[in-house]
Amino acid sequence: MDSFSHARGLLMPILLNQGFFVFLVLFSTIAVLQLLRTVLSRGTNKPLESCLEKPKLDSSVVVVPTINPLEEFRWENEQQHKIRAFKPIYHITMAVRSDTPSELITIDCEYLNRLGLRRELLQSENDTVHGCTSMGEDSVQELYTYLITDYLPSRYPTMFKLSHDKSMFFNLVTGENHPTIPPRDPKAALKILGTTVEEDLFLLKNTPDGHQCVAFVCCFPSGWNPSSKLGAHMTKIHTTVPSYEKIGPSIERFFSKLQVGKGVKRSNWTVQTHDKLFNVKGNHIRPGEEAEEENIEIDKTFVRAELQTLTRMPTTQAVLFSFKTYLYPIQGIKAEGLGTEFADAIEGLQKGNAPGMWRYKGAIRWGKSVCDYLRA
Ligand SMILES: *[C@@H]1O[C@H](CO)[C@@H](O)[C@H](O)[C@H]1NC(C)=O
Ligand SMILES: *[C@@H]1O[C@H](CO)[C@@H](O)[C@H](O)[C@H]1NC(C)=O
Repeated sequence: MDSFSHARGLLMPILLNQGFFVFLVLFSTIAVLQLLRTVLSRGTNKPLESCLEKPKLDSSVVVVPTINPLEEFRWENEQQHKIRAFKPIYHITMAVRSDTPSELITIDCEYLNRLGLRRELLQSENDTVHGCTSMGEDSVQELYTYLITDYLPSRYPTMFKLSHDKSMFFNLVTGENHPTIPPRDPKAALKILGTTVEEDLFLLKNTPDGHQCVAFVCCFPSGWNPSSKLGAHMTKIHTTVPSYEKIGPSIERFFSKLQVGKGVKRSNWTVQTHDKLFNVKGNHIRPGEEAEEENIEIDKTFVRAELQTLTRMPTTQAVLFSFKTYLYPIQGIKAEGLGTEFADAIEGLQKGNAPGMWRYKGAIRWGKSVCDYLRA
């Protein structure tokens, strides 16, 4: 999908790969040394405690992520994150940074509005915005259980509570409650998740043909049909993304190596000349599609950014790809003094290793007008 399209990565994956490799070498060296010490210490008369104190090196132990609670959190007072990652030259890259398990879900003052819109979309668009294959059912259950009974009540205790017997989940903001045992119907579970958090969620499983999308709930697609990704593998998901072949293999490797408890984040931006969050068409220009320069209405023009995460689910080992969407009025970007910087970033779409991005992101239509405005 275009969303994954953004899971692009040359630079960071390479850095990460090297980092991982160094880690692996160190880890195995330490492991061997420890083993030798343990074996040797058997021969000497070392007390038993010193053996017990040794660090555990068993990699099969499941890491249970700890969640830092935001005890005083008031969603109404929480400003939206301002993602301003504008670079003068656009390179297709994954550019991920490590993320703590606590920061998986972001909540701010738009929460209730966005949830209302999501509820309507899940009703009116149905299969377009959520779905699951038979391969995805166990991972949907795992994700549901994790978010509903562990993550959300731990992270946002002022918003979400469990009943004393832990059988019910209460959303104190919407007044809704749900069983903590996942509904048997995966779409029902996905619908509850989609109306409890604002993140769009995709679950991917590794197969001999690469990672495959096995379940999703996505109300805020940026110009693509989420249901067309269900059952698709990464290459097919990104079929319209220019230069995807440059990063596809490293994304697959990255997904395969992602460790439980060691999620990552990245962000991505484009411009849109309307205020719709749900957009199955538009925003992008497809190969062969006609496009020409347009006049735009500045007060309906937004930077659309996604804050994306990748997380490994411990039991079913699915990869969760989530993203939260932000719309920033272009007038606000200029008012912040970032006009020139952002205009450079727009023109920079054509200058890097994926020049097709200029057309793909639709800059043929809005690029000149938006840059003129930003620099005026
Ligand atoms: C990033 O931006 C593009 C817009 O060009 C959009 O299609 C895509 O959904 C976004 N997400 C990712 C992951 O890049
Ligand atoms: C959504 O579509 C499914 C079929 O895929 C149907 O069974 C269900 O009733 C629909 N739900 C709504 C709310 O329209």
